[in-house]
Amino acid sequence: MTSHLSDVWFSVTPLQVASGKGCWVTTTDGEEYLDFAAGIAVNSTGHAHPKVVAAIAAQAERFIHAQVNVYKHDLLEPLATKLAELTPDGIDKFFFANSGAEITEAAVKLAKQATKRPHIIVFSGSFHGRTHMAMAMTTSKTGYRAGHAPLPAGIYVAPFPDPLAADQDAEVARALHGLDHLLKSMTAPEETAAMILEPVLGEGGYIPAPPAFIAGLVERCRTHGILFIADEVQSGFGRTGELFAVEHYGIQPDIICMAKGIASGFPFAALGTTAALDAKWSKGSHGGTYGGNAIGCAAALATIEIMEEPAFLQNVRDRGRQLMDGLRELQRHDDGITQVRGLGLMVGTELADSARVAAIQKHCLEEGRMILMNAGTYGTTLRWMPPLVVNEHEIEIGLGAFEAALKATA
Ligand SMILES: Cc1ncc(COP(=O)(O)O)c(C=O)c1O
Repeated sequence: MTSHLSDVWFSVTPLQVASGKGCWVTTTDGEEYLDFAAGIAVNSTGHAHPKVVAAIAAQAERFIHAQVNVYKHDLLEPLATKLAELTPDGIDKFFFANSGAEITEAAVKLAKQATKRPHIIVFSGSFHGRTHMAMAMTTSKTGYRAGHAPLPAGIYVAPFPDPLAADQDAEVARALHGLDHLLKSMTAPEETAAMILEPVLGEGGYIPAPPAFIAGLVERCRTHGILFIADEVQSGFGRTGELFAVEHYGIQPDIICMAKGIASGFPFAALGTTAALDAKWSKGSHGGTYGGNAIGCAAALATIEIMEEPAFLQNVRDRGRQLMDGLRELQRHDDGITQVRGLGLMVGTELADSARVAAIQKHCLEEGRMILMNAGTYGTTLRWMPPLVVNEHEIEIGLGAFEAALKATA
């Protein structure tokens, strides 16, 4: 049968999905799969969490879209108030959009207007989205950029520490030296509006930034009046065992980007910033038809309510530990695994060889009925991003499928 769907989408699996519940999806053939891709770290509360489904259904009965420039609806302020409570100190004002790329674009627009400076620094391995500016800021793989030139100018790439370097202190010093060199050679501090960093590199390989590296960036930002933007599109909303990954580092970003897990799968994104910076964003210079969509707000509020249950984040930490311990145990018997790293349920398994990563993914899918995705510039990372409601037994099933795949591909 001829497909009328664009072929531009790459496919991780050939599955046709009919329904989902928690960590599981059921195909149109009635087969069940453990979904450890979770919509690319989106289905934070699992597929079809009853509270999220009820909130969406109830809101759809009231109204679906109440355009934010035309009038305000009654979920906007409650969501912004809640986010002000939950985000790091000083983040007090919120702008809403529909996707991660839109929100990193918004962050850059705000940073440029607020500082009146033209340049942005990103870090190698970064992924900030697929619109033109976000693509220019993305350096995880050439495939995202190829054939789209010219990309917007004014983006400068500084090194991100290599997690496999034997001497991590020296590696952090090397990366910070690269940043200093960039500030001397290509974008002077007074021309640099912001640095944007994923505290845990996502698409680039699930690499938590070393604390000394983040501290070094923030110090340079404060010294030079450069804004620090945390792109928490993937690492936010509980994924790392704290609501936001920056909490592990004790730092306060000037702008924080949120999307993916925020609304359990409904397209929704938020930018948080300080009142002082928001005051410098000139009225009407940014916006969008759907930002703050009523169903999205309802889904986000329901998601937050679930995440505020005391056991929720504890589960992320416990299951993350269980997963990392299990993977490290497997690593002891397989020298093809060069590193197991991560925070919470944002866990990467690094292998020496990308062909083996692909073979493991295939085996996990076909024999283990488990969906896994890869990451990393060289495709050598298997990334574990199950729904945050995953239970102990499901992690065991996942580890079992992975162990079988390791043996079959050794
Ligand atoms: C850190 C980060 N920023 C931005 C994006 C872009 O988000 P979206 O695909 O919703 O545009 C992604 C998507 O993977 C991401 O991981």
